[in-house]
Amino acid sequence: MTSVPHIPSAARSGADFGQAVADAWYTASGSSRMDIPVGVVAALALWPVKTEGAAHAGRLASYFAAQPGPVLVQGYAECFSLHWMRRPDLLDIATPITQWTEEELNETLLHGVRAVTRAAVQYGVLHYTGASDPAFRSAIDLMSWAVTSLRHHRSRKGLGEYHTPPDIADALTRLTLEKELPRPGDWFCEPTAGTGSMFRSFAETLRDHNLDPHDFGWMMQDLDPIAAAAGAVNVIVWDLGPRALVACGDILAQGDLSAAAHAHQREMFAHRDLIVNTTRTAVATHKADRLLNSPAPDSTAA
Ligand SMILES: C[S@@+](CC[C@H](N)C(=O)[O-])C[C@H]1O[C@@H](n2cnc3c(N)ncnc32)[C@H](O)[C@@H]1O
Repeated sequence: MTSVPHIPSAARSGADFGQAVADAWYTASGSSRMDIPVGVVAALALWPVKTEGAAHAGRLASYFAAQPGPVLVQGYAECFSLHWMRRPDLLDIATPITQWTEEELNETLLHGVRAVTRAAVQYGVLHYTGASDPAFRSAIDLMSWAVTSLRHHRSRKGLGEYHTPPDIADALTRLTLEKELPRPGDWFCEPTAGTGSMFRSFAETLRDHNLDPHDFGWMMQDLDPIAAAAGAVNVIVWDLGPRALVACGDILAQGDLSAAAHAHQREMFAHRDLIVNTTRTAVATHKADRLLNSPAPDSTAA
């Protein structure tokens, strides 16, 4: 990593984090779009460098803060692609907050990307989500703080989106889970999941009881595409495991979308495997062509 000016960064409260992200976005860009700032927070939370206790977070924060907008957008696009290869089903649900990385953003929006990046890293996104231990990363729902703060800021009338506050979620979890601990193989279903705040608390409680979230099924559904996208990101950040699914849809009009989410997961993995195999075949064919068409060694050379 090249030398960059140090910027102070630390894990701040979720409310301060969300407020800083929303202020940075609306001040720098003047845009009412939410997909870009939520996507910036998602990419930083998904950034693949993880260390014990997020020891690298301060240095990486300074590095991000020093990058120009286009470099950040390129890096975020690559981060999303990397995760698409691992969990194409979840990254497909996350499309509403990732596809802006494929747009030609104007200078003002690029300025907004840079401002949100600086705010998010200064207020601790990497300190919270850079730990190699998923139990540590499950301590907070930063995606929820980003989504709700951006919505409240935009509405300016106090009409916003509300997710269950973490202490209430923890109390509800204790009431629900600790009476009788769930058994491996059980499924949890949240039909109005928001970004998954209740599941964060469930996963934390399971880990406290030496249970592994990977041994359970997790089904999140939400009507709102940005909330569902943020929930899909959280599944990865909190490492809920291979049987954690997210669907976007109305529980009243469309019913429980669990079966559709299973089918979607199978389709997306098949699609990913097809792309990987086709690419491998194309590379092998190209290599064989080059070998066949390269000039034969000169047998007369000494
Ligand atoms: C009060 S929040 C609760 C979120 C989450 N369960 C929590 O505890 O933080 C309500 C969420 O329900 C979603 N929602 C409202 N009506 C819905 C519906 N008919 N189907 C699916 N989701 C819905 C909203 O989009 C919002 O994200």
